[in-house]
Amino acid sequence: MVARIVALFVLLFWLPTFTSSSSLSVCIVGSGIGGSSVAHFLREYASPSASISIRVFERRGVVGGRMARVAVGGESFEAGGAILHPKNYYALNYTRLSGLKIRWPNATSASDGRDDDGDFGIWDGKSFIFKTWRVSSKLPVVDKIVSFANKGLLFWRYGFSLIRMDNFVQRTVNNFLKYYESTESRPVFETVDEMLKWAGLYDLTGHNLEEELISIGLSPLLIRELITIITRINYGQSVSISGLAGAVSLAGSGGDLWSVEGGNWQMAAGLINRSNVDLHLREAIQSISNHGNYYELNSSEGNSYKCEVAVVAIPLDEVDICFDPPLSIPPRKLQHTHATFVRGLLDPAYFGLSSVEEIPELVSTIEDPGIPFLSISVLKRHDEKEVTYKVFSREAMVDTLLDQIFSVRKDTIHIDWGAYPRYKAPEVFAPFVLDGQHLYYVNAFENAASTIETSAVAAENVARLILSRHFGHVPSKRSGSESSTVDAGLHLEL
Ligand SMILES: Cc1cc2nc3c(=O)[nH]c(=O)nc-3n(C[C@H](O)[C@H](O)[C@H](O)COP(=O)(O)OP(=O)(O)OC[C@H]3O[C@@H](n4cnc5c(N)ncnc54)[C@H](O)[C@@H]3O)c2cc1C
Ligand SMILES: *[C@@H]1O[C@H](CO)[C@@H](O)[C@H](O)[C@H]1NC(C)=O
Ligand SMILES: *[C@@H]1O[C@H](CO)[C@@H](O)[C@H](O)[C@H]1NC(C)=O
Ligand SMILES: *[C@@H]1O[C@H](CO)[C@@H](O)[C@H](O)[C@H]1NC(C)=O
Ligand SMILES: *[C@@H]1O[C@H](CO)[C@@H](O)[C@H](O)[C@H]1NC(C)=O
Repeated sequence: MVARIVALFVLLFWLPTFTSSSSLSVCIVGSGIGGSSVAHFLREYASPSASISIRVFERRGVVGGRMARVAVGGESFEAGGAILHPKNYYALNYTRLSGLKIRWPNATSASDGRDDDGDFGIWDGKSFIFKTWRVSSKLPVVDKIVSFANKGLLFWRYGFSLIRMDNFVQRTVNNFLKYYESTESRPVFETVDEMLKWAGLYDLTGHNLEEELISIGLSPLLIRELITIITRINYGQSVSISGLAGAVSLAGSGGDLWSVEGGNWQMAAGLINRSNVDLHLREAIQSISNHGNYYELNSSEGNSYKCEVAVVAIPLDEVDICFDPPLSIPPRKLQHTHATFVRGLLDPAYFGLSSVEEIPELVSTIEDPGIPFLSISVLKRHDEKEVTYKVFSREAMVDTLLDQIFSVRKDTIHIDWGAYPRYKAPEVFAPFVLDGQHLYYVNAFENAASTIETSAVAAENVARLILSRHFGHVPSKRSGSESSTVDAGLHLEL
């Protein structure tokens, strides 16, 4: 009897999923790296017999979201997500699959994002409390000596704490690498908490970075200076961010960082192009209503779309999409970072220096309410009299302030980014499955850390979650579509 009831239950439970298993319609809101990666991994993991239709909605006229370009004085630079870590394996694969070229920071002209081989200084509002050496030499040997000497300078100031910092970052990066393990040994995660726990990263979201670093014996000087300048540059925030966001931020300050030649946004464009997607540009989704066996998405263009699965690949913190039934997710605030691009010349007098050559390539800052910016970096030197700079700040840089800092300004461009979450410990995460049914949220992962690669990793999990929950089994191997397209990526410059 019991067996028969169980059999009946199983039949009732599974029948609908089996009958609907051959086709699936998915609507994705947002064409950043998160949305485009969901489309890519749906195609990669779905069984060849399944017919999946994918629509992607993007309110702007271009794809890529926070991977975007800005034109300054006729040249284009990264405006948002600029640099990638050498172990950002999905980003590396995307670059290769789309036949894009990698740009290393040691390239002859300055890197698109930040010149990592250039010198840097720590500005406290009155003077440079630390400065590395710069020698413009064409000789690799001299470069090596200078780089060695700079390491010596750092060691002199911060001592063995630097090694402990490095170990902390390596440990975190190694844990993160578990997300690239084969899908046979790697579960599909229903929640962010579960996903972080599995990789041993969850505890780092429970403490703030400062506490975490003090507990492993880092010196207060290192935390107040070097660590602080890095969290300010990468997340616009202090060392009170979570330990995990802090570790990710520190990992993004090492060597061998790269970007995509011509713009990181092309990774999203390439994924969308290869994934047989119906792309709706300049169409914002305004409402998502659950009608039982499908969702209805209404757009700014007055159109209405029906999909069995809806994927939110945008941070929900500042958009007013109307959900029916309404959602309740933990509150989160976005940190706004103002990126101001200036083609002109810094004024050495502002820094108490006598010549512009004495100003470091990267001016970084400590936490002090009197300092009106987070960082100023050289993007490109055109000649002695003209340089393109990127200024990050928490508040908008007004003209009177810019005129104190710059002696010449030919072009100025302001961008106000709703940049990344305001990190705090302990973090509380929204679920990947927003309504317990088929409404998914990629950016639930963003308050673990916000980077191009973490968006891709979260999207990969969401794609597997969609397929396993809809088709009733976990996809365990790739579809093989990969092999036919690998040839596209022979242009990789490694
Ligand atoms: C200034 C700055 C610097 C950064 N630096 C780095 C870095 O160096 N390295 C790094 O890895 N990461 C960096 N990041 C973070 C990184 O850019 C982001 O984590 C990542 O790009 C987020 O991608 P996403 O797809 O999740 O979201 P997004 O890129 O924000 O994509 C969401 C998309 O959805 C669209 N959209 C929004 N609402 C709607 C709607 N209602 N309907 C339709 N479309 C909608 C948006 O226009 C956008 O295109 C930086 C971010 C900023 C802002
Ligand atoms: C990148 O692509 C290669 C070749 O297609 C594949 O073997 C590898 O697993 C991919 N890496 C990741 C992290 O998916
Ligand atoms: C730049 O760095 C990359 C990676 O470390 C290296 O492979 C390449 O040879 C370097 N190029 C130059 C010009 O030094
Ligand atoms: C899309 O791919 C095709 C063929 O691979 C290519 O010719 C085209 O330029 C690509 N388009 C975009 C927008 O990347
Ligand atoms: C969405 O559009 C449809 C068709 O125009 C309409 O019937 C429905 O009420 C709209 N839903 C919302 C939430 O606005």
